[in-house]
Amino acid sequence: MVTIAPSILAADFAAFGAEIAAVEAEGADWIHVDVMDGHFVPNITFGPQTCAAIRPHIRTLMDVHLMIAPVDPFIDAFAAAGADILTAHVEAGPHIHRTLQAIRAAGCRPGVALNPGTPVEAVRPVLDLVDLVCVMTVNPGFGGQSFIDTCLPKVAQLRAWAPHLHIEIDGGVGPGNARRLVEAGADVLVAGSSVFKGGSVADPAPYGQNIRAIRKAATSVAA
Ligand code: DX5
Ligand code: ZN
Repeated sequence: MVTIAPSILAADFAAFGAEIAAVEAEGADWIHVDVMDGHFVPNITFGPQTCAAIRPHIRTLMDVHLMIAPVDPFIDAFAAAGADILTAHVEAGPHIHRTLQAIRAAGCRPGVALNPGTPVEAVRPVLDLVDLVCVMTVNPGFGGQSFIDTCLPKVAQLRAWAPHLHIEIDGGVGPGNARRLVEAGADVLVAGSSVFKGGSVADPAPYGQNIRAIRKAATSVAA
């Protein structure tokens, strides 16, 4: 079964609580929360204080994607903010192994993310420390970018190495590629613009139509 994790990067930033309630009511499985620092990626979103503020509005699972460097000084703050999954980038510093241990010690489920330009071998030594691998299929920093096809072989390789882990795809996901992603071995699909397009808090029905379209495409995989 595929997990669909709408990214609130594509939501109304002035109405996160209502947006989360709306997208969960329309079928979201997890809520994906993109934290950007203007240093590791060329954009800034928000930090642990906003995560703590939105946490009571999330009934499902808070999947926090840290696009920040350094990571370690902020782990306790994101754990205290209520992150269920806390994902750090393998490119974010020289000590990803230590970072992932610290995330687990802080009480979160650790994830490791890799950029499109990073070989999949970079995460292999830490697969025993994580619950999730996030394969970036755009260069992180912005929503609404085009899916980068050359990232796809990483998914099958990861699935072969780690049958038990969540493999999450982040960037450019929609009904047009969901099937290929699940066939390659992904089980979590992050989707920002393809979920939130056409809808709003006042008119959330398109969120549900968009989620169902992705789920239908993803689950049309031949048995
Ligand atoms: C990109 C973020 C993604 C982003 C995906 O830096 O990590 O989670 O919100 O947005 P879409 O689905 O629009 O590509
Ligand atoms: Zn993300």
